[in-house]
Amino acid sequence: EKDGYPSFMEKEIHDQPSAVEQTLLGRLDESGRLTLDEIKIDEAVLRSIDKIVVIACGTASYAGQVARYAIEHWCRIPTEVELAHEFRYRDPIVNEKTLVVAVSQSGETMDTLMAVRHAQEQGAKVVAICNTNGSTIPREADAVLYTHAGPEIAVASTKAFLAQITAAYLLGLYLAQLRGNMFKDEVATMLTELEAMPAKIQRVLDEIEGDVKDLGQAMKDASSVLFLGRHVGFPVAMEGALKLKEIAYIHAEGFAAGELKHGPIALIDEGQPVFVIVPSPNGRDSLHAKVVSNIQEIRARGAVTIVIAEEGDEAVKDFANHIFYVPEAPTLLQPLLATVPLQIFAAELSSAKGYDVDQPRNLAKSVTVE
Ligand code: BG6
Repeated sequence: EKDGYPSFMEKEIHDQPSAVEQTLLGRLDESGRLTLDEIKIDEAVLRSIDKIVVIACGTASYAGQVARYAIEHWCRIPTEVELAHEFRYRDPIVNEKTLVVAVSQSGETMDTLMAVRHAQEQGAKVVAICNTNGSTIPREADAVLYTHAGPEIAVASTKAFLAQITAAYLLGLYLAQLRGNMFKDEVATMLTELEAMPAKIQRVLDEIEGDVKDLGQAMKDASSVLFLGRHVGFPVAMEGALKLKEIAYIHAEGFAAGELKHGPIALIDEGQPVFVIVPSPNGRDSLHAKVVSNIQEIRARGAVTIVIAEEGDEAVKDFANHIFYVPEAPTLLQPLLATVPLQIFAAELSSAKGYDVDQPRNLAKSVTVE
């Protein structure tokens, strides 16, 4: 079942090219338009929505946070991402013009289910992004977009995360197409970029897995690891930290790189390991330069910097104690690549400490109580 891998998590990390590929399959009609037949919500309703609220827990919420950057950029619809248990209990402003997107691998997370019910009671339509056929959340939702990642056994989510981002991006492109925010060829170009991702994810596995594992082994006695990212790299940083907490029981935190000088930089002292997810140097704005200067700042204070950057990015090399290059991709798609080394690192560190990678203490794969 594990296909020869020592853990399900390792197998599932390697399933990721296929998880993304399967989630993208069959989405174009003969005229080259993106179709999502599953979204059986009246098109007039989808055109009238004025807010999107993504609700989820854990890793699925970070997929939502990544997707938010893309959905707002493509659809120009204000999009919030909220932990399902917080959403439900704060009297949220939700109505017929709100589209709620519930993201859940299992489809059984009670907190997310209760939030779905609450949103529907207020008149909102709910689209579920789910990996488990026929589970409760998709059954109760108005529409469901399945991720086709295949069964995920390891408690710590990996391939479901990449598939959730992929599915949420399809939803964003679909809405942008429907509402006329993007031209047909713009949607097609982004789909082509998405379709190129499985091969790039495979390259990450082929090219850097060994080195990331060596680092995981070497760092097995670390007592705290920090993760910095900006823009879509910010939720990636939080996901990287969550993986370490979940399976290696190490204190880990993900920060927005821009927040560094507003607090977290006080944590940096000699030898503190910090992962930094560097935006593409070809991306918009000056995000790349800003993150590079963050790396300099923490290096100057003794941090051991572990940099994830786009291949060809020479500017970061001088400030990196360790550097892992991932293939070039549009900024919005970089999370599908940059997350992979963080997953490998957590799995390796957990196994180096002798822990059960697939069944971490105190955690369940699916939490069916509130
Ligand atoms: C947690 C799992 O309990 O639930 C996480 O340990 C998961 O891995 C989270 O991300 C949400 O689960 P689901 O099934 O709703 O995506």
